[in-house]
Amino acid sequence: MTTTVETSRGVIRVSSLTKTYPGPARGLKVLDNVSVFSEQGSYIALRGVSGSGKSTLLNILGGIEVFDSGTVEVSGANLGTLLRRQRTAFRARTIGFIFQFFNLLPTLTALENVSAALEPLGKAITERREQSMAMLDAVGISHLANNFPAQMSGGEQQRVSIARAMVKRPPVILADEPTGALDHKNATQILDCLARLQQQIGTTIVVATHDPIVIGYATETWEMRDGAIEVSHS
Ligand SMILES: Nc1ncnc2c1ncn2[C@@H]1O[C@H](COP(=O)(O)OP(=O)(O)OP(=O)(O)O)[C@@H](O)[C@H]1O
Ligand SMILES: [Mg+2]
Repeated sequence: MTTTVETSRGVIRVSSLTKTYPGPARGLKVLDNVSVFSEQGSYIALRGVSGSGKSTLLNILGGIEVFDSGTVEVSGANLGTLLRRQRTAFRARTIGFIFQFFNLLPTLTALENVSAALEPLGKAITERREQSMAMLDAVGISHLANNFPAQMSGGEQQRVSIARAMVKRPPVILADEPTGALDHKNATQILDCLARLQQQIGTTIVVATHDPIVIGYATETWEMRDGAIEVSHS
């Protein structure tokens, strides 16, 4: 496989980031003057107790959630300066999302779910089909290409969502509890699959998780606590 991602250093650059949700008194400060940095190709395990802000940070990095102050740069895009439409384009091009409950579109087949990720990139339908089939093959389920999500197991659905996230070869994958709904065997298979593609494509990956097996794959851990992030390298 050829790589399409940027080779510039520091694919994620977060500086003095603060995020507060409305609440009593001064609100709930989920991120308090956080600065973190990651190299291209890192595999980051984002840890922390429930409510520590893992999903909030992922959503900010993915341009879904806005923030109060600081700068957030992802693959060269300065997210605080983007308009809504630019953020949508940024997401389509730069970010692959993987969710706990897969979030596949129920009325589309596996192949169509993957192919839909290439639509905003203006690719021709035959090219979309070819690349999507190749990616379903890479995650080991090309034989299920014409199945709908309801006709697949949880592990198989998560493979589709990995294919959907990876098919555009994004610089960054953001995964929120990707093994949370899977048993140990499926979780391990999914993580193997994700790690293999990550290496091939050179994607940076941030995985919010409570699952200790993710740590074995990570090159660094970001531990969230009391609005701060402590980074450790493995
Ligand atoms: N839209 C929102 N409005 C107000 N408060 C919010 C909102 N989203 C999240 N929060 C609060 O912000 C804090 C961080 O939430 P977040 O979902 O980022 O935590 P998390 O670390 O992902 O937790 P979990 O492990 O349970 O998924 C929590 O206290 C949560 O209640
Ligand atoms: Mg969460």
